[in-house]
Amino acid sequence: MLFRSWAQTADAHWPDVARVRDHVGVAHLVVTRHALVREVLTDPATYRPDNALDAVTPIPVAALRVLAGHRFRLPPTLANNGGASHPAIRAIVADALHPTRVAAQRPWLTDLVRERVGGIAATLDAGGSVDLYARLAADLPLLVLARLVELPDAPVGAVKAFARAALELFWAPLDADRQQALAAEVGRFHRVLREFAATGGGLAGSLRAAGHPPDVVVGALFFLLVAGQETTSQFLTLLLHRLTGEPAVLAGLRDGTVPVADVVEEGLRLEPPIVTWRRVAAVDTTLGGTAVPAGTSIVLWLARAGRDPATVDAPDEFRPGQRGSRRHLAFGAGAHRCVGDQLARMEAAVVVTETAPLLDGVSVLRPPWCPDNLTFRMPDAFVVRRR
Ligand code: HEM
Repeated sequence: MLFRSWAQTADAHWPDVARVRDHVGVAHLVVTRHALVREVLTDPATYRPDNALDAVTPIPVAALRVLAGHRFRLPPTLANNGGASHPAIRAIVADALHPTRVAAQRPWLTDLVRERVGGIAATLDAGGSVDLYARLAADLPLLVLARLVELPDAPVGAVKAFARAALELFWAPLDADRQQALAAEVGRFHRVLREFAATGGGLAGSLRAAGHPPDVVVGALFFLLVAGQETTSQFLTLLLHRLTGEPAVLAGLRDGTVPVADVVEEGLRLEPPIVTWRRVAAVDTTLGGTAVPAGTSIVLWLARAGRDPATVDAPDEFRPGQRGSRRHLAFGAGAHRCVGDQLARMEAAVVVTETAPLLDGVSVLRPPWCPDNLTFRMPDAFVVRRR
């Protein structure tokens, strides 16, 4: 179940804490209840974040050599940093993503999305089909992120390829040949990031000015380029797809009775792009009555926690604004809670507002397909045409 867990979030039979072995024989404790997931996320002394970015398929020597050849190093900076340097690094990143700065991007993004939606409508009107992932969701989050943290003009395609390679290398079940190819892709981009980290302005400049060493600047940029855009691309795709099957919600958006912010929250609850997130037990402990020895990998099933009947009235139904809708854990909780949440919400609100009128009259030619992955959905395409 570990690598296609999104397909099982609605199954009734899961215990609160389930012991599941992965494809290489490592046992994980999968936590399925909202209260227990929250308990783990908010107790960093008992459950450390150190394993958050560990490769779930151990990287063999040949692929490690490829990475070493590119001088690839990824010290703990953000999500997997349980050390003393975390608060200061996080504060600088949070400044760059401050809600005021995010709000300032809204008019620019709205214009861009409107222009894109106009083009998409023209294609649909002419009887054509449109891939909403490629035409809308894939690059928008990266374009906004580039403006917020002042990224260099790396070609969008290259950044997307690198980010998707990283998500596959660290979170997918893989064979050795594929690991080697992915290591080459990730290693190549790490080189580009090193150059930028040494000279770039914006966030890179702020981290350097605060005295953080080059490795930390690279680590922060690396994580942001993956988590700060790929996640939102995935979420936009999944949410737009979900909305094509929710005519009442589309009608509510159209007549103003359903606020877009409620639609985004219900989307995060039901279609989170990050389905699980990991912690590691620092000490022997007990979770929901299950003994947890120190060193155990804990897989927090965020997608399932969003559907916990203890927190939400109609767990499997898309009802914007329902009781418990906003209590999802799609952005995590505690000291490592996502600092890009307001950015992701703003982007989703703009895209849903501008795109909803189109979605009303389309049929789905090809729903998003997601490859096996422990944590990320990574939908590949979402093709529609006018009914
Ligand atoms: C829908 C989109 C997104 C989702 C679902 C999401 C989800 C998450 C989750 C689950 C975590 C781990 C939280 C924890 O350990 O408690 C996280 C951390 C993080 N996210 Fe996001 N994220 C999204 C978008 C973004 C964006 C747009 C950015 C920035 C541009 C971003 C930056 C970060 C950072 C920097 C961290 C690490 C925070 C820390 O360790 O202090 N994320 N995110």
